[in-house]
Amino acid sequence: MTPSKTANPVGAPPQAFRRALLRHFDRTRRDLPWRSERTPYRVLVAEVMLQQTRVETAAPYYLRWIRRFPGWEALATASRDDVLLAWTGLGYYARASNLHRTAVVVRERHGGRLPRDPAVLRTLPGVGEYTAGAVASIAFGVPVPAVDGNVRRVLARLLDAPRPSVSQLRAEAARLLDSRRPGDFNEALMELGTTVCTPKSPRCGTCPVAAHCRARSAGTVLERPAPRRVPKPRRAEYAVAVAVDERRRTLLVRRPEPGLLAGMWEFPGAEMRAAGPPGSVAQAALARLAGLGPAVGGQVAGRLRPVRHVFTHLAVVYHPVVVACRAGALDGAAGVVEGAGAGGAQSADATRTVVAASLEDLADLAVPVAQQKIAAQLEGWLQDRAP
Ligand code: ADE
Repeated sequence: MTPSKTANPVGAPPQAFRRALLRHFDRTRRDLPWRSERTPYRVLVAEVMLQQTRVETAAPYYLRWIRRFPGWEALATASRDDVLLAWTGLGYYARASNLHRTAVVVRERHGGRLPRDPAVLRTLPGVGEYTAGAVASIAFGVPVPAVDGNVRRVLARLLDAPRPSVSQLRAEAARLLDSRRPGDFNEALMELGTTVCTPKSPRCGTCPVAAHCRARSAGTVLERPAPRRVPKPRRAEYAVAVAVDERRRTLLVRRPEPGLLAGMWEFPGAEMRAAGPPGSVAQAALARLAGLGPAVGGQVAGRLRPVRHVFTHLAVVYHPVVVACRAGALDGAAGVVEGAGAGGAQSADATRTVVAASLEDLADLAVPVAQQKIAAQLEGWLQDRAP
């Protein structure tokens, strides 16, 4: 198909595009929790949550977060544990730590107010080009573009560009931007990407800017942008020691910082590699938690079902093993010890914090989703054996 004469050539004046897009947005904008009572704090929290999480998933977390940490001061003075706990289930936990650090920086260096200059916003922990643009435009009305993954797809189709460069995308987004309503314009483009200009089944028939779309004219919409090669995550198998004592308490260790799931709580464990079957690897990992008393490395009492979890660069299978500890073995198990945890690369002799917790206590700790699945299985395992 040859490009139609009605398609807006690149470089054409974009007033008609702006008008069509914003009229559509004004009619169809979704009633999302971060769109009411907007403050710079709330806009930043929402945009950080939405960096790697879908709108539907983020919404309940956002509401809970705002109740728990209503503003900069509440967040800056919160404990790291409370912040991680409020984020538990959303994934990409560095985002929570970065928000926490940002709250401290805002309080100490910016007089308790978020800066409006995108270049200054970019100096805050975890704030990149996209987030700075989104926050500056939505919270402060600064006319700067915000190109996230959805906007990239929309622009690649408008331009009919298979692999648009970052600078090409930014230039086109800046050219199209409505400088009188920059926040609405940026959100309208994002929302067009999620609701109309979707990756696999775009609704071009209802698209308000179809007449401006070069890929639509060329019949290449589904090929734009070209798929990116995503490297396969490394596969790893971990043995996990689910220690349990006569009082139904279990043992958790805190993950090291920095790194994957930094600061969160997990069952002790070790990567299996060629080190033997899960039972012995798990027991050895438990025994390496020095300072817990010799009997803590107790008897293997059963196996739980393997739990799988895919992180960005790591596809893990956890093999949980229930290790029955003698009465009193976990009594002294709280504090800083030497040892290893399950979920990632850390040296066996790193200093680790451990805690003995009942299954009920786990709700108050930041426990990653895969480890929560193991805990849920332990609950069933204990019920099956209840007297
Ligand atoms: N995705 C990222 N930010 C968004 C926003 N403010 N509205 C809708 N979708 C988004």
